[in-house]
Amino acid sequence: MTAPAAVITNPEEIAALVRESCHRGRTVGFVPTMGALHEGHASLAEAAAAECDDVAASIFVNPTQFGPHEDFARYPRALDADRRLLAARGVRWIFAPDVAAIYPPGHATRIVVDGPALPFEGALRPGHFSGVATVVQRLFAFVPAQRAYFGQKDWQQTLVVRRMVADLALPVTIVVRPTIREPDGLALSSRNAYLSAAERRRATGLSAALAAAARDWAAGAPVADIEGTMRRIIDDHGIAVDYAAVVERESLAPLADPAAPAVALVAGRLGTTRLIDNQLLDGRAGAA
Ligand code: PAF
Repeated sequence: MTAPAAVITNPEEIAALVRESCHRGRTVGFVPTMGALHEGHASLAEAAAAECDDVAASIFVNPTQFGPHEDFARYPRALDADRRLLAARGVRWIFAPDVAAIYPPGHATRIVVDGPALPFEGALRPGHFSGVATVVQRLFAFVPAQRAYFGQKDWQQTLVVRRMVADLALPVTIVVRPTIREPDGLALSSRNAYLSAAERRRATGLSAALAAAARDWAAGAPVADIEGTMRRIIDDHGIAVDYAAVVERESLAPLADPAAPAVALVAGRLGTTRLIDNQLLDGRAGAA
């Protein structure tokens, strides 16, 4: 039987535990989450447990990364189930602070990342990445692990976090792990729980569009054609397209060199649920 992971709400307490582990020469891995965990999070915890001596995870639904009309209030919360999942995947400590522990009265500092934070999610969700960067920096301060694990599913978020870590010289290595998908291709997301049965069936439009992009990219199709095909597939599934783009993989800028490493990014809305997904594009025909 798996030992239950300790749930710690006090920032000083988790910081002391992680520091002590590091002082004893152990490597600590950290998996930041907002809870409502699924196999995507489990895969991050497993990777951390395989590569580190001790693993900490955080569960904190961060209010500053939600816009005023977004789903903060209804975001699923499932601490008991999350605790079991994390313990079964080798997590030793769960840091589950309340809002006042992360944002004490009088807090007045926010982190603003430009560059990869500006387009796509940054443009459609003003303040979102500032909220993400601010909370991730706070979490890294309270959980001073050597390695932190993020899912590729939120590709733009991984770029923003890596940019912040480099710019602020934070002593943590960011590890990005592949997206975990349902058998029909839908990327796992805590927000999939919002979908009705009919929306769930149509939600495969995003991964179908990305699969077409990967195929057409490999065949050497022009970027505009790939983007058009992605839009059409998403639209045909009854998903309102927010964006469907092929861009430079690290900067998210338009592709100046059609053979440069690229990523296809999609976002769309089914009813009141907004989903995002992406696909790294490799092996382009004719590329050196
Ligand atoms: O990806 C998430 O779950 C969140 O954006 C994160 C990184 C835990 C920050 O709140």
